[in-house]
Amino acid sequence: MLRLPIALAALSAVISVACAQLTVLFPGGENQWWVDGSDNLLEWNCNESQVQTFSVLINNPDFLTPLAIIADQPNFVCSRLITANQTRALPVGTGYTIELVNVLNSSDVYAQSAPFEIKPVGSAFPT
Ligand SMILES: *[C@@H]1O[C@H](CO)[C@@H](O)[C@H](O)[C@H]1NC(C)=O
Ligand SMILES: *[C@@H]1O[C@H](CO)[C@@H](O)[C@H](O)[C@H]1NC(C)=O
Ligand SMILES: *[C@@H]1O[C@H](CO)[C@@H](O)[C@H](O)[C@H]1NC(C)=O
Repeated sequence: MLRLPIALAALSAVISVACAQLTVLFPGGENQWWVDGSDNLLEWNCNESQVQTFSVLINNPDFLTPLAIIADQPNFVCSRLITANQTRALPVGTGYTIELVNVLNSSDVYAQSAPFEIKPVGSAFPT
């Protein structure tokens, strides 16, 4: 009887590792914004999920459909710079979210960032 909780705890630890979700680490939230006209960081928890590749979309409540930034991003690299060119069509504003989705089916969303802002050209970068 005493062993059971320990066994369950160990089992749930194994399951939580195997099923760990892909998560966007940057940008997202009040303190993690992008700056228009600059190269901006995208970072995710590359080591904790089984996903091999994903597409990167950016969405906003004002958009009819999300905009694709990267078609086929390998998971293992952990981060990459999104060039000013890749985001030049995006207006400055709030409410943006990054979505990491199934390469073959963009309705299958693996991870979504917290909402973040794209600040005007020349704004300070987050620390
Ligand atoms: C993720 O894996 C890569 C490659 O194995 C390694 O270089 C990196 O340090 C790992 N990062 C974390 C946060 O574990
Ligand atoms: C940005 O896009 C423009 C137009 O497509 C292209 O001429 C330019 O070389 C690109 N700049 C970079 C740094 O990729
Ligand atoms: C795409 O993903 C969505 C959400 O997971 C799912 O409901 C839908 O059936 C998938 N479509 C195909 C063609 O697999």
